[in-house]
Amino acid sequence: MSMEIFFDIHSNLPREGPGNNDSTRKAFSYVKNIPGDARILDVGCGPGMQTMELAKLSDGPITAVDTHQPFLDELARRAAEAGVSHRITPVNASMFALPFEPLSFDVIWSEGAIYIMGFGEGLRAWRPLLKSGGYLAATELCWLRDERPDEVERFWAEAYPSMKTVEQNLRIIAEAGYTLQEHFVLPDSAWWDDYYEPMRERISQLQDRYKNDRDALATLKEASREVELYRKYSSYYGYVFYVMQKTD
Ligand SMILES: C[S@@+](CC[C@H](N)C(=O)[O-])C[C@H]1O[C@@H](n2cnc3c(N)ncnc32)[C@H](O)[C@@H]1O
Repeated sequence: MSMEIFFDIHSNLPREGPGNNDSTRKAFSYVKNIPGDARILDVGCGPGMQTMELAKLSDGPITAVDTHQPFLDELARRAAEAGVSHRITPVNASMFALPFEPLSFDVIWSEGAIYIMGFGEGLRAWRPLLKSGGYLAATELCWLRDERPDEVERFWAEAYPSMKTVEQNLRIIAEAGYTLQEHFVLPDSAWWDDYYEPMRERISQLQDRYKNDRDALATLKEASREVELYRKYSSYYGYVFYVMQKTD
């Protein structure tokens, strides 16, 4: 897929993966006994919808990391508009090599991004950055049923071959040195309202703009296929929010 068409699809959307503010708030409610001015790290923040919600839920500094500068610029714009620029520091860095000292954060947050490293790999790599008793909250695409129709199984076997079941991820959490606090499946609305619906609208505008470009049209078709697949098979897979505490 050309990067140009990828970013045509993925620019100026409210968010860049399934999620919503209700789910961010719900997950944060399971984070207990952290200081009022807790230091939070948001990994793979994108344009920062969840970062802005975290700023409402807490009083301390938030470091938001991504590798795509336009997303960080958009987050900086949103933070300025809300008058919270002094609390949010966008940092252009990779989740594979986070440039922070050990024991720097009370909470590590990551919505729709840990898959880039792999769930277990991310949990293990980021653990040293957490203070003792710190929390990690992350969403991850998971199988919700053991038996899956071929069509959906095949799509995700190609798009995300290391996708696990919830039970497998619970084991990975314990093995990576965390204690699960809570987990829940993101509701359908978290896929549609701020992500797939705006993306569908964008795709149909682009289909018009690229009507003479076969490669671009093929990419757009693939993107709409993912959306339609979710419409058909949403009971078989979903995004799960896992909230866990570093085990000492
Ligand atoms: C599916 S989006 C989720 C963004 C945001 N958390 C949200 O839910 O709207 C994944 C994000 O990870 C970022 N990303 C990709 N590779 C990365 C890396 N190596 N380190 C940090 N962020 C990365 C992308 O630029 C993108 O913003």
